[in-house]
Amino acid sequence: MTVTTNDFSPAALPLAEKLLEPALEIIARYPVGRSRSALLPLLHLVQTEEGHVSPQGVAFCAEVLGINKAQVGAVATFYTMYKRRSTGDYLVSVCTNTLCNMLGGQEVYDQLSEHLGVGHDETTADGRITLEHAECLAACDYAPVVTVNYDFTLDEATPESTIGMVDKLRNGEAVTPARGARVCTLKEMQFQLAGFADDRDGAVADGVAGAPTLRGVRLAQEHGIAVADFNPDTPITTTKNPKDESAKAVKDPSPATQAARPHESKLASVAKKAVGAVKDAAGAVTHRDRTKDPETRAAELRNPDASTPAKNPAATGTPGGVGDAAGDAKPAGDSPRPAAANDGEEKK
Ligand code: FES
Repeated sequence: MTVTTNDFSPAALPLAEKLLEPALEIIARYPVGRSRSALLPLLHLVQTEEGHVSPQGVAFCAEVLGINKAQVGAVATFYTMYKRRSTGDYLVSVCTNTLCNMLGGQEVYDQLSEHLGVGHDETTADGRITLEHAECLAACDYAPVVTVNYDFTLDEATPESTIGMVDKLRNGEAVTPARGARVCTLKEMQFQLAGFADDRDGAVADGVAGAPTLRGVRLAQEHGIAVADFNPDTPITTTKNPKDESAKAVKDPSPATQAARPHESKLASVAKKAVGAVKDAAGAVTHRDRTKDPETRAAELRNPDASTPAKNPAATGTPGGVGDAAGDAKPAGDSPRPAAANDGEEKK
């Protein structure tokens, strides 16, 4: 069925008119029946228009995916990259996590905060800069680091270099990033985060690993430190290495091995029995679970100590029990409530 803007509520319609086409392109990347997995890029797409995820953005995502607003809200409020209020043109993130902090990250943040007159997650009055302190930005080798719109813009930052860079951004001057791509606005970056290519010619950085990243390797080489028997060409496999004698002993303890290592042999025997018991139990559970309906399985997972629940708690006089509709893996409030319960509330 073709989705058109006519399918959207008044709340979602303004965004649907602007974003329906790229939204459908994003959804088409996912297998049929798995479209809800497109929620993360869709939330970034919403931020290309609004700079944050508004109630209208939540409504648009919910309606285009066929899920409810509580499900969208749960995701949008979990991740820090989804903003709940308006952001500036540039999101400046200062890492204040362990290593950056040790090397001055907090000082960078404090002085920048004072210079801009805003705190964490706040935006300057001119709407240009949103400041945030960030957890580890995965660039500890260049600590302290500052990103602008999630691109590495300052390595080994100081309060002076950071304030100078941010002032340039506010004045509309070009900023040359340390390693990241050429700086764009936060809304433009959201389009890339939604999974669309950066079409600016030559914008994407393509540098090699820098000296701080390779320092550990160089030191190891200088001091002749290496991992014994390490072969970087070893293929990744889930099969046990046949040279692993202890694994072999567990799998196939020969009489000679048992005689030579009675202690290990006993261990191997115990391990073998344990593996067998686990396999039997797993087989029994799998067989049992296949015969149960999903609602009962979900209830048992939530409360394994309870006896098998009745399918209809109202019939057993156990309202809110493990068989309640909220245990069907849907958010509470999604499921239709029994008519009797509704009647009771309306009479109050
Ligand atoms: S602690 Fe700052 S990048 Fe890791």
